Amino acid sequence: MKVAVLGLGYVGLPVVLAAVEAGLPVVGFDVSAERLATLELGRSAVDTVADDSLRRAIDTGRLTFTNDPADLADATVYVICVPTPLRDKLPDLSMVRSAVGFVAHALRLGDLVSLESTTYPGTTDGLVAEQIEQISSLVAGRDYHLVFSPERIDPGNHDFGFGNTPKIVGGVTEKCTETGAAFYRRLVERVVTVSSPRVAETAKLLENTFRHVNIALANEMAVFCRELGIDLHEAIRAAATKPFGFMPFYPGPGVGGHCIPIDPAYFSWRVRQLGLSFRFVELATEINDRMPPYVASRVVEMLNAVRKPLNGASVILIGVAYKAEIGDLRESPAFPLARRLLLAGARVCWHDPHIPEFTVDGQPLPEVKSLDADSLSGVDLAILHTPHSCIDLDGLVRNAPLVLDTRGAIKARPSHVHAL
Ligand SMILES: NC(=O)c1ccc[n+]([C@@H]2O[C@H](COP(=O)([O-])OP(=O)(O)OC[C@H]3O[C@@H](n4cnc5c(N)ncnc54)[C@H](O)[C@@H]3O)[C@@H](O)[C@H]2O)c1
Repeated sequence: MKVAVLGLGYVGLPVVLAAVEAGLPVVGFDVSAERLATLELGRSAVDTVADDSLRRAIDTGRLTFTNDPADLADATVYVICVPTPLRDKLPDLSMVRSAVGFVAHALRLGDLVSLESTTYPGTTDGLVAEQIEQISSLVAGRDYHLVFSPERIDPGNHDFGFGNTPKIVGGVTEKCTETGAAFYRRLVERVVTVSSPRVAETAKLLENTFRHVNIALANEMAVFCRELGIDLHEAIRAAATKPFGFMPFYPGPGVGGHCIPIDPAYFSWRVRQLGLSFRFVELATEINDRMPPYVASRVVEMLNAVRKPLNGASVILIGVAYKAEIGDLRESPAFPLARRLLLAGARVCWHDPHIPEFTVDGQPLPEVKSLDADSLSGVDLAILHTPHSCIDLDGLVRNAPLVLDTRGAIKARPSHVHAL
């Protein structure tokens, strides 16, 4: 067995490391020469995979990196982990098509192909199987094994990683599912088989749609709980003591990352093909997208109360990554928020130990390295956007004249610290 992993990012790299650790020879394939150069130096391209783990894998001698499709020829297992973004709010499967094209040219009888990229139901047994057949004349389920196995990784989660999160596998035939499951059992603690790729694709979208909708519920409640003078975080903590039937979700400045703002749109796009609308998803998107402007309106209110206009005010964003403990800016609500503040004439700077630079519409914004009194002396208001554990919350509370805590991270709240 030789494994080829296509796409060496947040999803592909953990698969690479797990396969090497399982004793398998692995070729890591990526179209980005820059990413390959970084990896070849033993430097992880994503902050959720440690350099040490990568170096250990390279030192086994079982791992090679390439961007030459010819190097895929002797693999027997192909795992596709390329991005599935939106373009003009519609699914963009161009990178899946490109990766499938590389696989189809290398594929031989009996090989296994696993798609891990999140996508709408029907992609694996439709687009992927058809493209492979067109190029190679090989038929899924007859000549090679084809499965969908969603990646469920939660970047920054220290309790659950690739190895101890159950892996769902759904193949186009039972034999495909068995072959896919046998492969993944070498990599993870538990494999859950389902009857088809469509069920596996749907399970993944259900997980992320569930989060998307429940975050929207918390966000909508945050807006009116404030009007009602109720501390929603306290209410959530109380509700979460119920040992069954409740799972806490928290309000915030909006949703970000490569999953929550994007995956449900894949689902609702597919539903629209049926002439129906996925109203929960559409409503949740509307509510979550309204959060950055809502945060900006709260900033205006807070400045107004101290007789300052937003125009000309200095506002610092604390934590610009889309979620805590990681350095991922993709789809971060910090972008629409900063854009709105800049348009209103605010001077916007930022602080985030996980992020090297923060550029909005081509304009790099000034970084503030520390939250000490000197660094915050000219600041009018601080927005706690993403409270990484390394952020000096005490320094922030002590040195910023006004703080808007969008995540409920500051427990003891003096009068200049406001909750969302
Ligand atoms: N990031 C997450 O937390 C997460 C979690 C679960 C699922 N997913 C899904 O996994 C997929 C990959 O996401 P990611 O976060 O790993 O993306 P990423 O941007 O971190 O990495 C993707 C890599 O694929 C490479 N690539 C692009 N086109 C390629 C091609 N044709 N052939 C080979 N390589 C190519 C890119 O250069 C990049 O290095 C997406 O469908 C995403 O929705 C992501």
